[in-house]
Amino acid sequence: MQLPDPLREGLAAELASTSPRDLSAASQALSQTYRSPHGGTQGAAVAGPLQARAYAAYRMPATIAALAAAFREVRDRLPGWVPRSLLDVGTGPGSAAWAAVEMWPGLERIVFLEREPAMIELGRALATRSPSAALRQAEWRREDITGAWDATRADLAVTGYVLGELAPDTRTGLVRRLWECTDGASVIVEPGTPRGYADVVVAGEVLAALGARIIAPVPLSWPCLEHEHDWLHFSDRVSRSRLHRTAKDASLSFEDEKYSYVAAARLDSRPIAARVVRQPQIRSGHVRLTLCTKEGIRHLVVSRRQKDAYRRTKDLRWGSAIEEDEAHLFDLDATHPSKFAP
Ligand SMILES: C[S@@+](CC[C@H](N)C(=O)[O-])C[C@H]1O[C@@H](n2cnc3c(N)ncnc32)[C@H](O)[C@@H]1O
Repeated sequence: MQLPDPLREGLAAELASTSPRDLSAASQALSQTYRSPHGGTQGAAVAGPLQARAYAAYRMPATIAALAAAFREVRDRLPGWVPRSLLDVGTGPGSAAWAAVEMWPGLERIVFLEREPAMIELGRALATRSPSAALRQAEWRREDITGAWDATRADLAVTGYVLGELAPDTRTGLVRRLWECTDGASVIVEPGTPRGYADVVVAGEVLAALGARIIAPVPLSWPCLEHEHDWLHFSDRVSRSRLHRTAKDASLSFEDEKYSYVAAARLDSRPIAARVVRQPQIRSGHVRLTLCTKEGIRHLVVSRRQKDAYRRTKDLRWGSAIEEDEAHLFDLDATHPSKFAP
């Protein structure tokens, strides 16, 4: 994924006055906070202009990629559904909205809830560059989202990379409130770590208990873990700009962002037959797939001889869905072990 040009240019302009050395030091300090056992739950992880800029330079491209991937799934599960309004809770510099307006350019109204003034200031400045009128004119509210916050309902309600920053006893309340504010779909994204996945599972259970339909990545009842230390997560490749490389003190031109997510809706969704839960392994004359299905994990070897299935594997990525009307290609509708199984 590449950042939209107006955002890339906006970041370069907003961060031009910050020395590369300060940016890199602040990014490293933030990274250490996020990797610590408490992961930013003890006090604000981002406080002040330098940290807000460091977050935007070193994390925002990756969180936009993860949010965009989750939104793509929502779009595919709810064909024809077009959200007009967005609520983003724990907005940071506006990552979710930048991803959402690319996916649904028809968005008309956006409300952001964020506690840190420096994030709001930076997010507002970046938003002025968006081609989306909804993002340029978004409402930014300074709010502590662990309190009794109020918000008008939105078609799409999102929280990205926030649960892990909250005290554990406040997370359920946030998820409940998010759902109360949702007219169409809610999306919750967290880092693709065992802890991030655990937060997403609890969030999914809370949503389901409130009557939400879990539309992605898989129904809660599907057994998708291969062993007790496994966790369901996905990955998206993010191009690194020069600014991004500076902030990370890195030379590679890309990075892989691992994320876990859950999407829930008040609407009926297009069901799936399976989801690709590991990077497809492309070998000479065959492709190895690891799929999660309602019966559990299936390992398939799709040979070039299975022409239709093999052709379909060309478009499959880690995280892709296999639609119900494609199940026959991979023998997923059979109750007996797959003929492709090694
Ligand atoms: C890791 S950042 C994620 C930002 C953005 N959602 C993204 O995906 O890039 C977490 C954000 O949540 C905000 N946050 C954390 N606790 C909060 C609270 N109690 N009330 C409001 N915002 C909070 C932080 O200030 C920060 O901007």
